[in-house]
Amino acid sequence: MPSLPSFLPRLPRLPLPLLLPAPAAVARAAGLLRRSDAGPHPRVVVVTGASSGIGRATALELSRRGDHVVLVARREEVLDEVAEVCRDEGAASALVLPADLDVDEDVAALVDLVLERHGRVDALVHSAGVVAYGRAEELDAETFDAVVRTNLLASANVARHTMRVLRRQERGVLVLVGSLLGHVAVPDMTPYVVSKWGVRALARQLQIESSDLPHVHVCHVSPGSVDTPIYDSALDSAGMVNRPPPPSISPERVGRQLVACLDAPGPRAQTGLTNYALVAAFTLAPAVWDRAIGPAFDLLSRRPAGTQD
Ligand SMILES: NC(=O)c1ccc[n+]([C@@H]2O[C@H](COP(=O)([O-])OP(=O)(O)OC[C@H]3O[C@@H](n4cnc5c(N)ncnc54)[C@H](OP(=O)(O)O)[C@@H]3O)[C@@H](O)[C@H]2O)c1
Repeated sequence: MPSLPSFLPRLPRLPLPLLLPAPAAVARAAGLLRRSDAGPHPRVVVVTGASSGIGRATALELSRRGDHVVLVARREEVLDEVAEVCRDEGAASALVLPADLDVDEDVAALVDLVLERHGRVDALVHSAGVVAYGRAEELDAETFDAVVRTNLLASANVARHTMRVLRRQERGVLVLVGSLLGHVAVPDMTPYVVSKWGVRALARQLQIESSDLPHVHVCHVSPGSVDTPIYDSALDSAGMVNRPPPPSISPERVGRQLVACLDAPGPRAQTGLTNYALVAAFTLAPAVWDRAIGPAFDLLSRRPAGTQD
């Protein structure tokens, strides 16, 4: 081992975790964060949207922590593949429950199945979502409704059945994945923006309604631009090709932040400093925002099909 230069003071030999305590542990020790109410390890955590992007990354992060993961999305064969990776990564168990969250009965049935298998739900991270592009007057009713149904009404389905369990248990965490676009407005994404503003309102309502339960937490997390397949699967009425606008972050980074919400639940979180700057610009300079956001968005995130970046 190379020795330290002699002019540096000698530190007592401490185990590394004592020298570098995790930020959450420091904050908790300082009384800034409440202790986790997501239960003892291994926790039982349901992850929706687990077949792709942020949900998949969250399930893998939980698996590395040794938790029980319950993987939910519509594509069963993809979930089976994710479950295998989860087990390899150290999950205590990985249960695949295919469900269409747009359908309330599917959500009720999946929560019942989790209770049947594990007897409890320590946390649910709701990451399922879809996006569509196009001016409000160009998008057909079917597309508009589908985006609002999956992002907002499915979130309400998930909340309805999860909160019943958490209230009965008097403990647990529900994490709703919102978006930066639940705080600001951008052109050509009206149903998505409407749905994500709605998810933020839903989270706030649930927080008020569960305020009598000190060990139940509802967390609303707002990612900015994240590099996931959601941009490829997006329907675009103008036939444009979409990509995450820079600066984008990885789904793994968001997954770690979502898992951190279970360790130290807080009511709301943004996933990057850029989000705060953009929300401030939207709030403080609306006229400038409204003129600049369309061209900026087109330049950074959309191009006609068949053209190069
Ligand atoms: N990527 C970004 O830049 C970004 C930014 C801010 C917020 N977000 C939010 O983050 C969340 C995850 O997005 P992502 O980027 O990870 O997208 P993604 O990679 O496309 O994953 C979306 C997931 O949702 C599932 N899903 C869609 N509709 C569903 C339904 N009706 N029932 C059950 N599962 C359904 C999909 O699985 P199946 O197709 O197998 O059902 C998939 O697992 C979404 O809420 C999104 O709005 C993303």
